[in-house]
Amino acid sequence: RPGAADFVPPGADLDQLRQAAPACRGCELWEPATQVVFSAGAPDGRLALVGEQPGDQEDRRGVPFVGPAGRLLQKAVAEAGIDVATTYVTNAVKHFRFRQEAPGKRRIHASPDVGHITACRPWLAAELAVVDPDVIVCLGATAAKALLPKDFRVTKHRGQLITQTTSRGEKTFMGTIHPSAVLRVPEADRDEAYAGLVADLRTAAAALT
Ligand code: URA
Ligand code: SF4
Repeated sequence: RPGAADFVPPGADLDQLRQAAPACRGCELWEPATQVVFSAGAPDGRLALVGEQPGDQEDRRGVPFVGPAGRLLQKAVAEAGIDVATTYVTNAVKHFRFRQEAPGKRRIHASPDVGHITACRPWLAAELAVVDPDVIVCLGATAAKALLPKDFRVTKHRGQLITQTTSRGEKTFMGTIHPSAVLRVPEADRDEAYAGLVADLRTAAAALT
């Protein structure tokens, strides 16, 4: 995997990054996917939400977080008192990885591996450098692997504010659970898992000074 670096135009603004992304061949995920899914939300958002990768519906529509996980996230963001209009939304990996038993069969989500995360990271680094958010929330382990210290574990460290130095200076990061993980929690415990996500988002929002 050559990685995305050679496909990211230097000095590009957000629109130029978005326009360049479909040509990326930084890893093999582009080929079976329908299209690249870049980002959505405020180009100058002070809060960035970073997911894992597009899901089935995102892959078809070309927009992040428009499926079931996206609906849950939207609700959680609103409940945390965050104005979505000030939020930038993207994914650690920009193409949908899936398994499929035969053409036409259901496409089953497959988590990206570390090699995919590393390959796609130049896009994430470039967009975050341009958008320059103050607080960056990693939703789930994949986004955490892309942006947080190596020893970060969602179960142990979720909800903690972490200061890291980036190309744009010191920024506040946080890792929390992925909205898809909330959806997978057995029904008896799901409300509690959802409340945990809302609480973490509230902490992130409070870090916006
Ligand atoms: N899950 C993600 O991590 N990102 C999306 O865009 C959709 C589902
Ligand atoms: Fe490029 Fe990322 Fe798509 Fe791989 S997943 S082809 S690195 S945009």
